[in-house]
Amino acid sequence: MDKIYAVIKGVGAYVPDYVLTNEELSQMVDTSDEWIMTRIGIKERRILKEDGKATSDLAVKAIENLLQKTNTDPQEIDFVLCATVTPDMQFPATANLITHKLGMKAFGFDMNAGCSGFLFALANASKWVESGAVKKMIVVGAEKMSSIVDYTDRAVCPIFGDGAGAVLLEPDTKGDVGIMDFQLYSNGDGWKNLHQKAGGSLKPPSHETVDAREHYIYQEGQAVYKHAVICMADVTKEICERNGLDNNSLDWLIPHQANKRIIDFVAQTLKLPAEKIMINIDHFGNTTAATLPLCMWEWEKKMKKGDNVILSVFGAGFTWGGMYLKWAYDTK
Ligand code: UT7
Repeated sequence: MDKIYAVIKGVGAYVPDYVLTNEELSQMVDTSDEWIMTRIGIKERRILKEDGKATSDLAVKAIENLLQKTNTDPQEIDFVLCATVTPDMQFPATANLITHKLGMKAFGFDMNAGCSGFLFALANASKWVESGAVKKMIVVGAEKMSSIVDYTDRAVCPIFGDGAGAVLLEPDTKGDVGIMDFQLYSNGDGWKNLHQKAGGSLKPPSHETVDAREHYIYQEGQAVYKHAVICMADVTKEICERNGLDNNSLDWLIPHQANKRIIDFVAQTLKLPAEKIMINIDHFGNTTAATLPLCMWEWEKKMKKGDNVILSVFGAGFTWGGMYLKWAYDTK
């Protein structure tokens, strides 16, 4: 039997309308456009402001965009895998809320690998498709990061934004396009440097945890930074070398968007020219599990069938990983 490859057949995305600029942030905390641009490289980010709306609503809009673009009936979808650190609720999984809102018969569940979530989910999804167990599946990275950002903490609040991106995966046996290889890593010792202190089973919510502002993102920025640059550069190099890719044969690098300086470091390690690197951090910030599909969505028209694409991520856990895929289609 021919080997089955999991192939991305389309990309959809959604970002909320509200634009939170560095100027507005400077009125909320002691910061400046100059500091944020120099240290992180973010000009503005999108925020979901509507009451009663959550991560699943962002995901639903991204998937509606995907279904419409790929002319796919929601009933054809077998499986929806949602990568998120901001689920609507602790349970049930956001993927279940998404399939319900879209009237799908698909099953679904969530994956949490921090900012690496989309790549980890896509790797997982590729195995479902390659096994023949599912024919059409959606991987969506969706985040309402604004729900866990402390807008009095200047070290964290400039970084994150809200958004969602989704891809449609299908099997293909030609072997000229699709997901070719990936490598995932995690090191739980990193939890100390990036986590949410309360709200889980270790420290359930209480008046004290709310008063101590422990339901927001806690980050030791420099420690995370040091690990991120090394791990992302190493895994990107590893996946390139293993697949015989160099700065000539590689067409696109899609890096997680945590800090422009981290992306620049990874690009320098690979000696990659700027025009091969997808960067949206300046206008969307760090949308955690949504950064990669949001990049694919914005660059979709530029990618060509057969292009060599590397995805590279780092996030809470710590988790990190790289993936090599051959882009499957041209967009008119
Ligand atoms: O996506 C998940 C993974 N996350 C990451 O990869 C994030 C990795 N970390 C980073 O990107 C950076 O560490 C940050 C952007 C979070 C921080 O940048 P930094 O260059 O590491 O700054 P720092 O934390 O070392 O702070 C330097 C100074 C401090 O002041 P002093 O102690 O030198 O007087 C901070 O208080 O900058 C100050 N500072 C700010 N100043 C103006 C911190 N935040 C701000 C701010 N505006 N928003």
